Amino acid sequence: MFYFGVDYYPEQWPEERWPIDAKLMAEAKFNVVRLAEFAWARMEPTEGSFDFEWLDRAIEILGKYDIKIILGTPTASAPPWVMQKSPDLYRVREDGQRVTFGNRRAYCPNQPLYQECVRRIVTAMADHYASHPKVIGWQIDNEFGDRCYCPTCQKKFQEWLRGRYEDLDDLNQKWGTVFWSHTYSDWGEIPTPSATGSSPNPALALDYFRFCSETYVNFQELQVDILKTICPGHFVTHNLMGFGYDRINYFDLGRGLDFVSLDIYPRSQWSTDSCIDPSELALNHATLRGLKKQNFWVMEQQSGAGGWEMISMAPRPGEMRLWAYQSIAHGADGILFFRWRSARYGAEQYWHGLLDHDAYPGRRYDEAKQMGKELQRIGDLIHGSEVRSQVAMILSYDSRFSFEIQPNNPLFSYAQHFKQIYRVFHQGGIPVDIIPPHCDLSPYRLVIAPALHVLPEGCAQALTQYVRAGGTLLVTQRSGVKDEANAIVNQRLPGYLAEVCGVEVVEYDSLSRTRQNRLEFALPEFSGKEMPMVGVLCEILKPTTAKVLACYAEDFYAGKPAITWNRVGKGQAVYAGALGDQSLYGTLISWLLEKIEIKSALAQCEGVEVTERWQEGRQLVFILNHNDCQKTIHLDKSYSNLLNDMTYTGEVQLEPHGVLILTLC
Ligand code: GLA
Ligand code: ZN
Repeated sequence: MFYFGVDYYPEQWPEERWPIDAKLMAEAKFNVVRLAEFAWARMEPTEGSFDFEWLDRAIEILGKYDIKIILGTPTASAPPWVMQKSPDLYRVREDGQRVTFGNRRAYCPNQPLYQECVRRIVTAMADHYASHPKVIGWQIDNEFGDRCYCPTCQKKFQEWLRGRYEDLDDLNQKWGTVFWSHTYSDWGEIPTPSATGSSPNPALALDYFRFCSETYVNFQELQVDILKTICPGHFVTHNLMGFGYDRINYFDLGRGLDFVSLDIYPRSQWSTDSCIDPSELALNHATLRGLKKQNFWVMEQQSGAGGWEMISMAPRPGEMRLWAYQSIAHGADGILFFRWRSARYGAEQYWHGLLDHDAYPGRRYDEAKQMGKELQRIGDLIHGSEVRSQVAMILSYDSRFSFEIQPNNPLFSYAQHFKQIYRVFHQGGIPVDIIPPHCDLSPYRLVIAPALHVLPEGCAQALTQYVRAGGTLLVTQRSGVKDEANAIVNQRLPGYLAEVCGVEVVEYDSLSRTRQNRLEFALPEFSGKEMPMVGVLCEILKPTTAKVLACYAEDFYAGKPAITWNRVGKGQAVYAGALGDQSLYGTLISWLLEKIEIKSALAQCEGVEVTERWQEGRQLVFILNHNDCQKTIHLDKSYSNLLNDMTYTGEVQLEPHGVLILTLC
C-alpha cells in the first residue's frame, strides 16, 4: 500500500478540533499520520507516570477513517523534569559551551541518565501500543545530529579508541603522535578535538567524528532494540536529512532500520535565493535510496513556507505536488507532509503546514487533496517499483569528515564537488545510485569516485578489480591521499589508485580565488570543445600507462597533464587531477557515457526532470517540470499518462510545475 499523509500534533490543538481535522484528512485521502514525536511532556508529565489516554483518543478519531499511525519516540526534546536531573545531561558544543534548556536536541546521547529516561518512555509507549490495530510503525527521535564534546563523551571516546586500536602504541603509531610530542602514555590523556585547542591532530579529529557518528547509531539502536522486542510487527525508521547533512555516517545509521526516511524542504527560510536546484533535491533522494539500496519514505515533505524567525517564499501553485512526485520518482514509497496546521506557538510558528494558523483549508490543502486522489489510482502500481541505475557515485563519510577537518583549500567543498558531478547526470536524465566505499560494484557500468580522500586499501583493490573486469571508473583530484587514520599515505599519489589509473601525481597546487588555470584537450574527440577553467586544487600528473586527455594551459605547469585515461583489463579509468566547473564534468561524462552506451530515457529539456521507476518489466517515466513556465517535450513513442489516462506522443506541452507519469501504450 502506498502511504500518504501528514505529520500531526493533536496535543497542540483543542480536542474539539480533532474530529474536524480527521475528517479533512480523510477527504484528502490520507491513510497515515505521524504522531507524538514531540509529546514527551504530555505522555509522561512526571517521572514514571504515563498518560496515553489523550493519544488513544486522537488515534481513535483518526482510526474512524482508517488512518494508520506512525508513532514518533519523543526523545529529541525532553521535558524540563528530565533535563533537571543533572547538568551533565546537556550537550557541550564544540566551543566548550554547555547548552541550556529552551531549544530541542539539548541532550548528550552518551549520558546514562538520559538513556535511562529514554528507555522508560520508549518502553512504556511500546507496551501500550504493541498490539494497537492502527499503529503500523515507529520513527525514532528526530533528525539525529549534533556532536557533543562533554567529559562523558570524552571518556566514552577513550573507551571507543581502546576497542579500535590494538594498544596505545598502535594508536600512537597510526596517529603519528611523535609530531609535537603528543605521544600518549595513558588512554585518559586523550582529549576531544574541541575548538578551544584548534587544529588538532587530523587523526584525533577524524576518529572523534567517527565516534560521534557511532554514538547516534548506538543511541538509535537502544531504541530499535526495545521497539523490535516489544512490537515485532511494526516497522522502525528514522527521519534523516539527506545528502546535505554531514555529521553522521548515514550508511551506518540506516543499517539498523527497516527503511530510512527523508525530511525534505526545497525552500526554507535560511535561503535568500528563491531558486531551487532540482538536482540538489534529487541528490537527497538518491542518497536516501542508496543508504540501504532500497526504497525510502519521506517523513516530512514541505507543505508551506518554511520559517522560524523568517518566512520563506511560499511554494508556488503546483510546487508541493511536483516536489512530492519528485520524491516518488526517486524511490519514495510513502509521503507525509510536514505539518498539518501551522503552529500558533513556539519556535516554528512560521513553519507553515497544509493549513494556515486559522485552519481554513486553502490551496495547499487542495493540492495535497488532488495528490491524494491521484495516489488512490496509481499508488499500488508505484509502490515497490524500483529505480534502476547503471551509474554509481561513491559517497565516503570518512573523506567528508577528513575534508571538514582539513578542506585543503578554503574554496573546496566535498559536498559541492559531489553535487557538481551528480548534477551532470541529473541534467542528462541518467539515474545514479549513491553508494558507500565498500559496496558491490558489479551492478554498475560506470562508477565515480569524487575526491575519495580517505581510501582503505581494500576499497582501492575492489575498484581495481572492478575496472579489470570491464567497469569504467572516474576518479577526481585528492583521492587516495589518506589512510584510515587520516595520515598521508607513504606512496606517490593517488596512492592505492595510482596503478589502476596509470598515473602519478608529481606535484599539486592549491590556488586562490583570483588565480585559475585552463585546460587544453589532447584527444581529437574533444577538438572544438571549449577550454574548461580549472582551479582551487590542481594536480600535475605523470602518466605511467595512461593516455593524456587534457593538459594545463597556463602557469609553471603549462603543457603538463591534468586529466588522463587508462585502459586496464577489460575496463578503463579516467583520472581528473584538476577541479573544474560543471562544463568540465559535462564533457568528460558525456564522452564516457557515449563510450559505454548509456542513454537517458527521453531527450532532455531544460528544467524538466526525467526519471524512471520499474514495476517488474513495466517502465514508469516521471516527467517533472521544475520551471515556472510551460515547456514542450518530445516523445518519440506513444505513452499514456497514469495520472489521467490520456495518451501522448510527439510534442507535449507541460504545465508550469506540471507532472506526467508515463507508461508505454
Ligand atoms: C525538521 C524537523 C521538524 C521541523 C522541521 C521544520 O525537518 O524534523 O521537526 O522542525 O524541520 O523546521
Ligand atoms: Zn556528551
